Amino acid sequence: MIPSLETLIANHRLSQVHGLRVLTDCVDYPDVDQVFPMYPEQPFFLEELAKIGGAAGAEVLEIGLGSGVLSIGALKTGAKRVTALEINPRAKLFAGFNALINGVTQGLAIIDGDREDLWRPVRGRRFDLVISNPPFMPSPPGQEHYFHSGGGDLLGMDFLDTICRELDAHLMPNGKALIVTAAPGDDRLPTAFIDVIERRLSGGARLIVDPIKFSFDVVKHHTPDGVADATMRHLGGQLKQRGLTHEHLCVLHYEKTGSGLTVEQSEPHAAWDEPLPA
Ligand SMILES: C[S@@+](CC[C@H](N)C(=O)[O-])C[C@H]1O[C@@H](n2cnc3c(N)ncnc32)[C@H](O)[C@@H]1O
Repeated sequence: MIPSLETLIANHRLSQVHGLRVLTDCVDYPDVDQVFPMYPEQPFFLEELAKIGGAAGAEVLEIGLGSGVLSIGALKTGAKRVTALEINPRAKLFAGFNALINGVTQGLAIIDGDREDLWRPVRGRRFDLVISNPPFMPSPPGQEHYFHSGGGDLLGMDFLDTICRELDAHLMPNGKALIVTAAPGDDRLPTAFIDVIERRLSGGARLIVDPIKFSFDVVKHHTPDGVADATMRHLGGQLKQRGLTHEHLCVLHYEKTGSGLTVEQSEPHAAWDEPLPA
């Protein structure tokens, strides 16, 4: 039987993000292909996109489409086209649905992502704007639940590192990138992200950091049952060695033609380890 629209929505989670309606899985959806609910990271990204005047006329690449909210935001602010990579078939369905209910019927080209070689599907192509909210969950071996949202290593930074490694090669000469993520650091700054920027990017970077940060003592409660202890034992050792104590929510503005790195604070968003109200 085909469910009514009301039943469909009641069985999932419908959030409002700066005027966009976004259907996702519920927080407690148990399977590995969960389409993540909205968190303060999505409004944070959309606010920073608005501050650069949106995506007017841009050929955009999104890495990690998920619910589609960032791509839809880019198209709503004038992007010519968004090419979006995703490995989770369920997310592609939700993103298409979300595009339609937000009045986006053209301009979104969803392409299969590649688990092993992130950039392969678009290698040789260049974009005006690359956007992403990359998987950033710490992902030790054997951790299944956050399969699509694990950052690829214990600290969750490998995916971001892989994006940054080939970012310049996929940007037009005046190209830009806008990346929202949570990243480990000390009690003031996301130092692990700053390290990636300094090692991988040669253009100009402006890192906007939310003042609300979480110590890893809190973050541990959000790791899946059964691996939380093992995760934290591993993580704890590594963190100590590297002086990493907190997780910070931040947005990177990157300009290929620019130079240097500046760090600024944003207005505080709601506690960003809790989903936005449905
Ligand atoms: C943190 S979620 C962000 C989703 C969405 N952009 C948002 O902000 O709600 C990261 C997304 O990246 C996708 N992903 C993981 N590995 C990928 C890959 N190799 N290529 C493309 N997408 C990938 C995941 O399936 C997930 O949907």
